[in-house]
Formats: sequence, C-alpha cells, structure tokens
Amino acid sequence: MSSPLVLPTVLPLVLPNDYRLPESFDSVATRVWATATAKVNKLISQHPDHFPLYTEGGRWVIDGEAWTNWCEGFLGGELWLLSRRAPAGRDSFHTAAEHYSELIEHRKTDDTVHDLGFLFWSTYRRWFEASGDPAKRDVLIEAGRTTASRHRTVGGYMPSFRQPDSLFIDIMMNIHMALYAAQQTGDTDLAAVAIEHCLTTRRYLIRGDGSASHEGMFDLETGAFLRQTTQQGFSDDGSWARGQAWALYGFGTVYRFTGDRRFLATAIATADFYIDNTRGELIPPNDWEEPSPVHSYESSAAAAAAGGLWQLAGLVGDPLRARVYADHAVRTVERLASPHFLARPEEDWEGIVKHGTYHEGKGLGVDESVMWGDYWFLDTIDQMQQFQETGS
Ligand code: GLY
Repeated sequence: MSSPLVLPTVLPLVLPNDYRLPESFDSVATRVWATATAKVNKLISQHPDHFPLYTEGGRWVIDGEAWTNWCEGFLGGELWLLSRRAPAGRDSFHTAAEHYSELIEHRKTDDTVHDLGFLFWSTYRRWFEASGDPAKRDVLIEAGRTTASRHRTVGGYMPSFRQPDSLFIDIMMNIHMALYAAQQTGDTDLAAVAIEHCLTTRRYLIRGDGSASHEGMFDLETGAFLRQTTQQGFSDDGSWARGQAWALYGFGTVYRFTGDRRFLATAIATADFYIDNTRGELIPPNDWEEPSPVHSYESSAAAAAAGGLWQLAGLVGDPLRARVYADHAVRTVERLASPHFLARPEEDWEGIVKHGTYHEGKGLGVDESVMWGDYWFLDTIDQMQQFQETGS
C-alpha cells in the first residue's frame, strides 16, 4: 500500500486565554496526591512486581482472573506521575517507575492483544520524555508497529483480542501508538492502516446520537459489517459508559495526531452524548440503558471521560465548547475526589477511587477500585495542574 499521507506534529492543547481552574482545585489535588502516595506505596511494598486490575472488598486481587492482559501499564503510569507529584518520596517513585516499566518491555511484541497503548503510552512515553533516551522511544515505536500488525485488509480494522471478526471501541485508545510510530519513522503505510481502522470504527461503532457501541462483528470473508454487540455493556444496543469514554478520548487523540477533522467531529459527537447523560450526577452507571442499575456508578468511565473532555477542550477551537468540556472535566474530578469516591490515605481500602467496575457480566471488580480508574484520575489531575503551571 502506498499513500501520500503526511502526519502533522501532534496538535497542541490550547484552552481559552482566560480559562482558570476553580480555587477549590488546589486542595482537591493535594488530597488526591496524598491518597495516591499512600495507596501506591502500600501496593508496591506488599505485592512487589504484581499488576492487579481490581479490588475485592477494597483489597487488590493479586493474580486474579484478568479476562485479557491489558493493564500492566497503569501502575507504572501512576508511579511516573507520583515521581513528579507525590508530596514525599519522589526519587523512590522514580526508581520504581523505571523498574515497573522495565518489567513490561517484553510486551512490545505481544500481538495477541489490541491494547499496547494502555501499556506503553502511560510508561515508556513518560520515560522517554523524562530521559530523552532514544531506546525508550524505540520501545514505543515497536509497540506501535505491533499494534498495526493486527490490521486486517478485509474489513479494514485491527480486531479485538477476542477473535478476528470482533472490533472493540477500546482500540481507539491505543491506535495512536501506530500513528506515533508512523510519525517517528516516516512510515506512511503504517499511518494509512491506523487511519483506516479509525474510519471503520467511526462508521460502524458510532451511532447517529453520538453513543458508542462496544463491539462490532464482521464477516471474515467479505469484510461486511454484521452487527453491533457488547461484552461489558448491558445489551448489544446499549451504551457502555467506559466505551463512550474510550470513544471521546480516543477520537480526540487521533485528531491530535492526524489533524483530520472527521475525527474531531466524532470526538465532539461522543463527548456531547457523554455530557448530556451525566449532567446531574456527573458519574455514569456502567451502561445508560440498564434500567434502574444495581450499581449507580462506574467511576473509571468518569475518570477516563474527564481526561478525554479536558483534552478535547484544548482541541476544539470554539471557546464556548472548550469551556463546557473543561468545566465538565473539572467538576467530574472534583466529584471523584469527594468522600463518597476517594479513599482516605489511612483507611484499609487499597485502591484510590471507589465505585468502579471492570466486567459486570463476569462479576470481576464490580463496585470496586480498578487500576485504570485510579490511573486516569491521577493522569487527568496531573494534566490540569500542568495547565495551571504552564498554561498548556
Ligand atoms: N476491556 C477494557 C476495558 O474494560 O475497558
């Protein structure tokens, strides 16, 4: 395949000139980093070199059922964040961040999963930014190539880990790894397959009202799209909240890497659906279509959505929209930092953010802390602080 594609450098995030975080934000951030310091220190000292996904009764489940191996980057990502933000012990967090990143390097060639971005963008990107060591960038590039190697010409997508005829919305959070590798190496074929994947996802998994389907199934021989389904949502035509967060965040990121306004339009449509459905409570249930949800909240969706909305605020251009997105993101992290959600440093609960869910259908990590919820929460607060400190 050949293509005249030229990728722009990654678009900067620009908020309206007079945008300011509320005064309450500073105390929120202080509280959150104190909790994160206590919880992550305890986890790595009690269970060194383990990567739990979710808690049970507030205790990390070590070597529990994972369904798929997609979470090994989040703890390392938290350690990188703490190496800059922890109230104490930053050097030891830095040492641990390098160590937990090294532990996953071998996964860069793992072509059995669809989510190497979750592993490597949270870890090796930070290591490369902190050190400038080109060997760390090479790890990112290799992981990006591995991501793209899953591409299926028939159908035009990278399949989910489940089976070759399955496409997940989650992959939108990882596909920028292939775009990054393309940018760094000038490999336009790599960019072309990544962009094709995003266009396929946009066409078949995003509905007219801006809601996202979790999964789509294809005919393996013809590549024809067959139907929308779900693995973690309530029903095939439901709206799984975390998938909605992956969509609004992922399409925004892909717009950042390509400058292609079709992806910006999809990020806006999915963000508007998310905001319309979280106006009151701010924190969604696992799936908006579940009648009278047994568990009211899926906090990890809210944490990821806040990060995606914050990013989109910096990309959208229109100051009114930017404010709506930024304000919703800030109000969401403030709600997640309230006593109902944020664990206290001294309490037995081992995670940071409560009331998240991994997989309701399989009964894994339901109404618990989940590692990616903690990670996106910290990552979003870090980005807001960075804006406060540098204006971008
Ligand atoms: N399958 C990735 C997630 O649970 O969001």
